[in-house]
Amino acid sequence: MPVRRSKVLLVKWFFESQHKLQTIRWCSSSLRYKELEETSTQGQLEPEPPITASIPGVKPRPHITPEISFKHDDLQVTLAAPYQLQRKPDAIDLGFGKYFTDHMLKIQYEKQLGGWQKPKISPFEPLSIHPAAKALHYAIQLFEGLKAYRGVDDKIRLFRPDLNMERMNLAAARSGLPMFDGDELIKCVKRLIQIDQEWVPHSETSTLYIRPTLIGTEATFGIMAPESALLFVIMSPVSAYYKASSDGAVSIYADPSVVRAFPGGVGNRKVGSNYGPTIDATARAASMGHHQVLWLFGPNHELTEVGAMNIFTVYINEHGDKQLSTPPLNGLILPGVTRRSILELASQWEDLTVKEEVMTMERLIMLNNSGRLLEMFGSGTAVVISPISRVGFVDKEIYIPTMKQPQPVFQRVKDTLLAIQYGHIEHPYAVVIS
Ligand code: COI
Repeated sequence: MPVRRSKVLLVKWFFESQHKLQTIRWCSSSLRYKELEETSTQGQLEPEPPITASIPGVKPRPHITPEISFKHDDLQVTLAAPYQLQRKPDAIDLGFGKYFTDHMLKIQYEKQLGGWQKPKISPFEPLSIHPAAKALHYAIQLFEGLKAYRGVDDKIRLFRPDLNMERMNLAAARSGLPMFDGDELIKCVKRLIQIDQEWVPHSETSTLYIRPTLIGTEATFGIMAPESALLFVIMSPVSAYYKASSDGAVSIYADPSVVRAFPGGVGNRKVGSNYGPTIDATARAASMGHHQVLWLFGPNHELTEVGAMNIFTVYINEHGDKQLSTPPLNGLILPGVTRRSILELASQWEDLTVKEEVMTMERLIMLNNSGRLLEMFGSGTAVVISPISRVGFVDKEIYIPTMKQPQPVFQRVKDTLLAIQYGHIEHPYAVVIS
């Protein structure tokens, strides 16, 4: 049939040539803007915020342009249907970040629509993301990690969530991602936890790990602040982050040829690009029988971090006092919530001197050789406290007597943190979710 055949040819030509049809692209983009205007007149959109307005309750910081934040009061909740609810895994199978709860929180940011949109809690689902999204190409993203603990009194507690919010906003500023009022996100996360409260393990060896993440979703290849972004929060019941040796300690390998961070970089921000590039060095350490990498920096081989943790040493100082020490926040170090809490808590213990100071490999070896090095440990939200008993450094094996101390500092620190987190003692660091 000639008419049908010419139609087929036209369609075929159209598919083969559409990439050349400038007019079609013009039409479709003007249609997009038309749709946008129509929606906005239906009163669905937030009014354009004044760019210079400040976030209530957030202290202004240098180099940070505050945005009008989303508000917990606008939170919309869609609960999962009974058939969408998943079976909860046994505590023994949890691992770290293998299972996810039934709901998630999503908050869109669209500059053209006035910035932050309404927060939404919805059933847990995969994201649909444009392949050109800046997060996928330039790592314009950040994440956080905090935990919800079920206390001895069955109340659920968060640990200093305000510090995670502060760190998120600092990382957002560095990557041109939109900032927000941390208190509003905490309120939304509390609601999410309340909804999925049965996912908070009834155990003191497991917790609910909360992963707020902010990604640049604008689908253009320019390396610039994204005009659209997505803040989402997912939650996972977890037990130990990794397996240690039978005595509970780990062995770490210091390879001076790799660095985790450098001055002026983003070692002090919780961005994904600090973590992906550690995989190869960690695999090499593992192939030599070590659990984690000890990250060194500079010609003096300064100790900076270990794996994804902050690092601490305990030794007898030149005055004969027992000293707890960790590297200062000099730009190379993640300002860990656990790190800060350890420093604050331990500085109240009269039998311990607490100091932020640079520690080099040479000094560490000297302290160990003279019998003054007592302990080494890593700290972080995921792991809490991880004692270290061996350091591999170039061709040396350094054995640290961490597990041989009669009353180790790492254990005291760990017990204190867990007692606060699980509500054995009332403490202002623990925020009860009512
Ligand atoms: C944490 O301790 O919260 C961490 O950052 C570890 C995480 C990257 C798994």
